[in-house]
Amino acid sequence: MTTPVDFNDRMLSLGLARVSEAAAMASAKLVGRGDEKAADQAAVNAMRDQLNMLDIKGVVVIGEGERDEAPMLFIGEEVGNGDGPAVDIALDPLEGTTLTAKDMPNALTVIAMAPRGTLLHAPDVYMDKLAIGPGYPVGVVSLDMSPAERVRALAKARGCDADDITVCVLERPRHQEMIDEIRSTGAAIRLITDGDVAGVIHCAEAEITGIDMYMGAGGAPEGVLAASALKCMGGQMWGRLMFRNDDEKGRAAKAGITDLDRIYDRDDMVTSDVIFAATGVTDGSILRGIKREPTHLTTETILMRSKTGSVRRMTYRNPIK
Ligand code: FBP
Repeated sequence: MTTPVDFNDRMLSLGLARVSEAAAMASAKLVGRGDEKAADQAAVNAMRDQLNMLDIKGVVVIGEGERDEAPMLFIGEEVGNGDGPAVDIALDPLEGTTLTAKDMPNALTVIAMAPRGTLLHAPDVYMDKLAIGPGYPVGVVSLDMSPAERVRALAKARGCDADDITVCVLERPRHQEMIDEIRSTGAAIRLITDGDVAGVIHCAEAEITGIDMYMGAGGAPEGVLAASALKCMGGQMWGRLMFRNDDEKGRAAKAGITDLDRIYDRDDMVTSDVIFAATGVTDGSILRGIKREPTHLTTETILMRSKTGSVRRMTYRNPIK
């Protein structure tokens, strides 16, 4: 019998940063070129190559899709060189493919790692999300409140007026009613066209980003990645899966989810210590995008560990080969 290897998050974290850096550098040439697919593919290839160099027995639990939809980094794919601890991997090699193709802000490469069995296997459906930064009482806002109630409750907890609150929302027709209701309180809305992992992370650095709360429906896989980041940075998050048809319910069943109405809080989505890395592809409020010089590429990466709450920002300048 072999002894299980400990999840040495301290040692593994630098390797994780390399994985997200590599994905970002691979997509550098495709920023602003109008080709979402090519940018995503370049990031996927690079992320997978780097991931397979790590001393881990990894399984992708949040990935590029089901095995029949994604040739690489599919859900269930084993990654790593098989030598280290058994871990779950959640990844999005390019979060914001359209943002990258159009050179718009906040495209990121994102990856999280945690001991095996501790990341929610979220199916590829929508998730209704709500997030706030650190420093608020537990449960000050909830998914069961209306959008206006959430704004007022947060303003009360912050000791300010509703019109001092800024909420980040994905600009989608499905959110129009929610947007109108938030605006009726006097609160401001930062609309984003894509990239709700960054949207949620913004709440954890409200003094820099100016965003107090994130709400609305986006991808459930992105929800688990965002929860991983907030677990490291502090902050609260909730998510409820949304199903439009039986096929989507079937995806949940396949992922082992039986309670379709459950509200997951941050620690239900990430039940143990996690490490998280993201690299900026395009300039954004939390990370600078890739800088291209004729001879070098420079990236900025945020690397975080929930065990210590440490947040490291790293710049990497590398000659173009
Ligand atoms: P991609 O990088 O896969 O294009 O996803 C971007 C994104 O904006 C996510 O951040 C978000 O969770 C999801 O798409 C929202 O989905 P939709 O575009 O269907 O509203």
